[in-house]
Amino acid sequence: MTLPPGARLTAAGETVVVAGSTVALARRAAAFLDDRIATAVTRDGQAVLALSGGITPEMTYRCLAGYRPDAASLALLQVDERLVAAGDPRSNGAMIRRAWGGRPPLLPMIPDVRGDAHTSSENPLPPAGRLAAAYAHTLDRVAPARSLGVPVVHLCILGLGMDGHTASLFPGSPALAERCRWVVPVDGPTTPAGGSPEVARLTLTLPVLDAARCLVFLVQGEAKAGVVRQVLQGNGCRLPVARLARRTRRAVWFLDTAAAAGLSL
Ligand code: 6PG
Repeated sequence: MTLPPGARLTAAGETVVVAGSTVALARRAAAFLDDRIATAVTRDGQAVLALSGGITPEMTYRCLAGYRPDAASLALLQVDERLVAAGDPRSNGAMIRRAWGGRPPLLPMIPDVRGDAHTSSENPLPPAGRLAAAYAHTLDRVAPARSLGVPVVHLCILGLGMDGHTASLFPGSPALAERCRWVVPVDGPTTPAGGSPEVARLTLTLPVLDAARCLVFLVQGEAKAGVVRQVLQGNGCRLPVARLARRTRRAVWFLDTAAAAGLSL
């Protein structure tokens, strides 16, 4: 994998870029993603991205959207989504649409049915199992390449919770053992420790994350410094993120100095 400028390797072989601020993190991550998108489009005619939600990635997505006015060759999928209406402020899809300005249109895990005559804010969302199965079909259609029968996205942008979760794979979740389905409904975090809303979700499963050509982690803030050290150089082996088998060869960690505090690089 071509390393981004300024990348350093941890003792365990993890690729890490430490940026001096959250803005620098977003710009450097966006520049790396833009370069990898260009490579994918040249080779495959398109770049398939899977985007996490939360707070951290929004600035990177805004930077990247600015690089990519020709959004026609991009396919934007979601890594995970909270089971809330599309207009709910907790919606990951709402954040992604806001950051990208709707170009290209997001392929959402939860359809935006606002204004649909047959639904209203009182109507419940479709059953989570039906949404998960529908998104697996979307993944099958949009990401034609396969690795051991699993759809391959070019770039998977992930965050890291303080409890070591990534995507919506939380500690103790049965979804961590899922090896067949590509998208599953999950309960939300049981404690605020993860730093993520305690609401049920849909999430891509480990086989799909592991099949990605490149995993890009975006982690910022001093609150994450402890879990970052655990994962990158300590005893983080029991954390959900540590279940990603191919991290060392296929992942790049973009950290700000606060999240990288105490790392030996
Ligand atoms: C979610 C996110 C989640 C996120 C981490 C880190 O739906 O909650 O996808 O997995 O990536 O919680 O979030 P921050 O980067 O905002 O801290």
